[in-house]
Amino acid sequence: MNPFPVELVPSILSADFAELADEVAAAERGGGTAIHVDVMDGHFVPNITIGPPVVKSLRRHTELPLDCHLMIENPDDFIPAFAEAGANWVGVHYEACRHLHRTIELIRAHGMEPGVVLNPATPIALLVPVLPLLHHVLIMSVNPGFGGQKFIPYSLNKLRDLRRLRDEMQLGFRIEVDGGVAHDTVAEVVEAGAELLVAGSAVFGGGRAAEDGRKLLEAAQAAGRAGREQFA
Ligand code: DX5
Ligand code: ZN
Repeated sequence: MNPFPVELVPSILSADFAELADEVAAAERGGGTAIHVDVMDGHFVPNITIGPPVVKSLRRHTELPLDCHLMIENPDDFIPAFAEAGANWVGVHYEACRHLHRTIELIRAHGMEPGVVLNPATPIALLVPVLPLLHHVLIMSVNPGFGGQKFIPYSLNKLRDLRRLRDEMQLGFRIEVDGGVAHDTVAEVVEAGAELLVAGSAVFGGGRAAEDGRKLLEAAQAAGRAGREQFA
């Protein structure tokens, strides 16, 4: 049984950037309990999005934790700016960190919660030494860079293995999943052990973030309940 409740973490990547405050408010009404902010630099991933100034503006419009997913090279150079802007959780890619332990310590030293993100082809075993230091591990279920991509089914194995590892090591980091989480995949990712569900196009793609977020969260919660009954 999963000790953590299932939570919806809407990704603003698929929101209307010109209406960001309203979009975030709608996602919150839809049951979102943290806001996922995708930061891309055009180098680590083939796309460019937003950075600390947008985090700073968002900070004035929501009290929810801002979950910043840094898809950038040299993340250490930008951690102070994200702290200053009001970020709460900072996820850095394993593949972008030459000195991962140092980066995690830097995030903590700036008063934020550290997470590590794994690309689909990166094995979870690489994280064992740092797992005790983490607030969350984010399993990418698409190759990072764009919203609206197809869920990679192998990610379910990684979620299950990570969940088992967390139990074995008796740790309390949260398990997050990002990419292709929608009505057709949400039950499987919850059953596999994810509890922080990042969803972009499934929440914002239809222009009805409150309604669509609520429906997705309800489907996720139903899958979580079914899992608990099975183990009761
Ligand atoms: C992709 C981003 C995701 C993206 C997910 O690189 O990390 O957070 O917003 O979008 P969907 O939910 O549409 O797959
Ligand atoms: Zn993301």
